Amino acid sequence: MFRRPAADLVVRNASQLWCFGTEVGAGDWPDLVEDGAIAACEGKVVWIGAADALAREVEILPGAVDIDAERGVVTPGFVDCHTHLVFAGSRADEHSARCAGESYLSLSAKGGGINATVRATRAASEDELVSLALPRLGRLLEFGVTTAEMKSGYGLSLDAELRSLNAIARLGALQPIETVATLMCAHAIPPEFASDRAGYVDLCVGEIVPAAARLGFVRFCDAFVEEGAFSVAEARRVLERALEEGLLPRLHADQMTSRGAIDLAIELEAATVDHLEALKAEDIPRLAASGVTAVLLPTSTLFLDDPRRAPGRALRDAGAALALATNLNPGTAMSENASLVLGLACRFNGLSAEEALAAFTVGSARALGLDHRLGALCPGFQADLVVHAAPSAAHLAWHLGVSHVRLVVKRGQVVFERAVASCA
Ligand code: NIG
Repeated sequence: MFRRPAADLVVRNASQLWCFGTEVGAGDWPDLVEDGAIAACEGKVVWIGAADALAREVEILPGAVDIDAERGVVTPGFVDCHTHLVFAGSRADEHSARCAGESYLSLSAKGGGINATVRATRAASEDELVSLALPRLGRLLEFGVTTAEMKSGYGLSLDAELRSLNAIARLGALQPIETVATLMCAHAIPPEFASDRAGYVDLCVGEIVPAAARLGFVRFCDAFVEEGAFSVAEARRVLERALEEGLLPRLHADQMTSRGAIDLAIELEAATVDHLEALKAEDIPRLAASGVTAVLLPTSTLFLDDPRRAPGRALRDAGAALALATNLNPGTAMSENASLVLGLACRFNGLSAEEALAAFTVGSARALGLDHRLGALCPGFQADLVVHAAPSAAHLAWHLGVSHVRLVVKRGQVVFERAVASCA
């Protein structure tokens, strides 16, 4: 006999319910249900269907949380697969200098840039790093982010990198956003190694990477290949060691200049290449064929006033796996505004609103290796979802930089809610 699934949380009356079932190969589950409803039990999705079938097909348990989406769009929670939100200190002055015409690379060459944040972060305790990061995570949650990757990379010594990573682990237990940790000791050459680059790479390979892997919760190792940061050869040493230790490679690639990071990413079967404003046209098909996810960070394009655009449209047309992220950091993207990311991915990178939404949910989950359990809304997946007070994905991209988030659910629990007028 057919048994109706029991639900302890239902969301009814969604104008659009974005499931992305085909993106995760979930049998017959569609990407979009119009006039939809969704039911969850014990943190997992148990049913999705037409709004008028909910009462007939689902046993709504006594005391269940019953949410009326009021004809708003319902999406999976945003997955922010690239942040540097654990840091201390301010770079507001540097931002002012950049607005007055100084370039990011020239400020970095004078000891500002990443190394300015390194000085402040090294001086902060683990407790201070946690306290500084918590409100940033709170603001991401208000924009509908339910999972966030966070990188170290402002410590650049064994102790300070481990302190940042331990802060990331603590943050995962202190607030609703699920966290993923990335080691990024290859973010900049710290000042004490300015005349001994090889010595710093030796420290990464010999001590920092193995120690980070021993923590047991670090999933990725990222490296910044750029003028003034790391060469391909230096990044290769760090990432090959990371692979030996079970950490998956990622690369900050082709942000300001193109210097071979894409080749390295393809060769190492990296999880992602991130930025790509300077990506060469001939690398687009190679990237698409590789399975390496291209992560677009359009807030940085705006923040740095870079006239180039990461070629999201061309990458998508070539069949590349795409993801989107805030890149929340003090130097190139001091903004938790996930809504802006979605809108700019359309405006700057040529994605449709639906493609941008997919990239910021299931695409980013795939980049983090989590698309078997989150980033899509299909039976068995985590009930991580957002109810927006706006009628469509297109509206979310159009109404630029404004949060329409009415309610956020993480693992079946309402973790953020606010009264917000519907936008028709
Ligand atoms: O992803 N590009 C390197 N890392 C960051 C910037 C970090 C900083 O300037 O503090 C980024 O844009």
